[in-house]
Amino acid sequence: MESLIQQKGNVIHPSVKAYKNAVKQLYSDWEFFADIHLHSTRSDGLLSPEEIIKLSWKNNFYVAITDHNSIIPSSGLSKQHKERLIPAIEILCKDGVEFLAYFHSIRDLNTCFKKYLKPKISFIFKTSIEANWLISKLQKYNAVITVPHPYCPYDQFRENFIRYFAKKKLYRESIGSISNIEVFNASHNRQINDKCLEVAAHLKKGICAGSDAHTKNTLGSVLTYCNASSKEKFLEQFTKGNTLFIGTPTPKIKNVLPALKILSVYTKYFFMRN
Ligand SMILES: [Fe+2]
Repeated sequence: MESLIQQKGNVIHPSVKAYKNAVKQLYSDWEFFADIHLHSTRSDGLLSPEEIIKLSWKNNFYVAITDHNSIIPSSGLSKQHKERLIPAIEILCKDGVEFLAYFHSIRDLNTCFKKYLKPKISFIFKTSIEANWLISKLQKYNAVITVPHPYCPYDQFRENFIRYFAKKKLYRESIGSISNIEVFNASHNRQINDKCLEVAAHLKKGICAGSDAHTKNTLGSVLTYCNASSKEKFLEQFTKGNTLFIGTPTPKIKNVLPALKILSVYTKYFFMRN
């Protein structure tokens, strides 16, 4: 089991079966598990937020639904549902670079979204948000900021974090505010993930991982865990670099449905505009 745990640069790609067995064993020793990078129907995912939360209850892990430039209307969530949810969002900047932000309360996320982000979002994949400006606004809420898939191979048509960083577009203070770099994204291959690990080491940042789940069968395929008695304690451990993660890569075939969904979202947007 030890060899399946990815930590401190030890990138391991276990099989799905080995992953499930390892997680089962881990559950008895650790307290807090969370899938911290995933998408619902609020952006390009295939499960509704309610379905995701129900599944997370059933499987005993927390979820940060990090929809693209979109948040879940909290009025539709029960108290029990809110309990399972780490308030979060994935924000796309105008140049194409993306950030994940985790908030300490749903109210903070809602306020930040309505006040600063919403006016600059024209579509879930199009914003006029500038990266340094964004980070300064997230800091006002003490949000935990991470960089998802810094070396995204699908970013041929837009910027990824590595190129953006190399162009020296990020202020020193902005870089300082980034807590962790995603070094294991389930939809990327090992070569790509290893490059992300190099970036994290270069920037001397903590590492994190995400399932980037868009479907039921990839939800929870990467879990971040630590001993924490609450979401707040979890975020504290996370920023201190005290969390571990375990995950299994998404087989390429399982990326087909999400790709079709993204295409349908773009098509809908195109026809809405014209
Ligand atoms: Fe994502």
